[in-house]
Amino acid sequence: MTTPASDALVFFGATGDLAYKQIFPALLAMVARDGLDMPVIGVAHAGWSLEQLRQRARDSVAEAAQKAGKGVDEGAFAKLSALLQYVDGDYNDAATFAQLRQALGGAQAPLHYLAIPPSLFGTVVNGLKAAGCADGARVVVEKPFGRDLASAQALNRTLHAVFPESSVFRIDHYLGKEAVQNLLYFRFANSVLEPVWNNRYVDRVQITMAEQFGVDGRGSFYEGVGAIRDVLQNHLLQVTSLLAMDAPIGSDPAALNAEKLRLFRAMRPLAPADVVRGQFRGYREVSGVAADSDVETFVALRLAIDTWRWSGVPFLIRAGKKLPLTTTQVMVDMKAPPLSVFDAIGAPQSNYFRFRLSPQVVLAEGMRVKRAGEAMQGEPVELIVHHHSGVEMSPYERLLGDALRGDNSLFTSDACMEAAWRVVDHVLDHKDAVHLYEPGSWGPPEAAALAGDEGWHDPQPEATQPC
Ligand code: BG6
Repeated sequence: MTTPASDALVFFGATGDLAYKQIFPALLAMVARDGLDMPVIGVAHAGWSLEQLRQRARDSVAEAAQKAGKGVDEGAFAKLSALLQYVDGDYNDAATFAQLRQALGGAQAPLHYLAIPPSLFGTVVNGLKAAGCADGARVVVEKPFGRDLASAQALNRTLHAVFPESSVFRIDHYLGKEAVQNLLYFRFANSVLEPVWNNRYVDRVQITMAEQFGVDGRGSFYEGVGAIRDVLQNHLLQVTSLLAMDAPIGSDPAALNAEKLRLFRAMRPLAPADVVRGQFRGYREVSGVAADSDVETFVALRLAIDTWRWSGVPFLIRAGKKLPLTTTQVMVDMKAPPLSVFDAIGAPQSNYFRFRLSPQVVLAEGMRVKRAGEAMQGEPVELIVHHHSGVEMSPYERLLGDALRGDNSLFTSDACMEAAWRVVDHVLDHKDAVHLYEPGSWGPPEAAALAGDEGWHDPQPEATQPC
């Protein structure tokens, strides 16, 4: 079903960090690439003027351009600057929303992006409704979407009191990444995978999200979150769902979401014994962190998916800060041949599919070939199917563009969100002490036991060029 495109973009939290780091650069790219041409209205309670907001936008895009090693697209910035409007006011004050309604002018279908803490969602959506800004509108909300299953359900009720589910877009920026998209495409655009993508041929799946950096500058945010809430419940379970779901019956968003939901519902809820939590040594000294904090900066777990396709195949997932490098990688290990005809093939298994999701995009297949010479002895080789290093479109540009068009394929539905919380709900606040690990290591040694004799695949730096 096609729905009309949005005709204005409103973002709450316009003076905040997310707007600075992500939203302005995405808006600039949307002007440059797609000719975004509609009112763009920032809302905040900061006592700013429109000129100050424009300056903030300028600083933001200049910093993003510098990081990317290029200059600001001046023509596009001038257009964006002309589209910008600013509404300043308290979210509890009806006058703020009356001003917004005025700024929207003749717009009939605005998109409201709530780049604000979830505790303010209720106030803002009710304010939008009372001022007539919610009619025909869509709403985009950021993570974290709740702290657990009960709070996510409560947030859904709050949003649904004003917006139908079809108008709610829950962002998980991981789903907007080129590599994550490619994972989905690669799986369902090639028939060769399907016959082997199951428990007859796949031995285990591993997903590692490693980050070399810590939590400097976000200590107090991270204290209230931890790795399970910050990246596992959302980014990594989403990647798992795309890896493991059945083929959707069509390309429309509803078909994709239906298969994802089936998969989320088949994930067996985690128990404390399935999970190892770690904390890097030195975390407690970070500003904003409690001196006796037991918040995890690392998590490793063993997840079961109870479907005919995946029964018995462990999904080993880990994520951590202050690990040896920054990368996210999926390894799908295939079963060893039933008998060794030639040389004995030991662990680690050399038959696999490897998906590097970040920072590069790599699809690779591991095989064994005979080493040249008289003996029937082999060696592992890797076939690089696809490799590119550039980020062409930022996740926020992609996702905001989709939301404006009303395409929710890459957004998380209420049911998927709640199903994902159900998976982690019993391990969120368990009282086992966290295991300390050294910065620059692969996490606490206790995580090794989860992976059994085969061990974890520690991602290596990616060669810049395919060989
Ligand atoms: C965010 C988390 O959602 O994702 C961060 O809050 C994490 O802790 C980040 O570093 C990783 O995303 P990306 O796109 O930088 O890999």
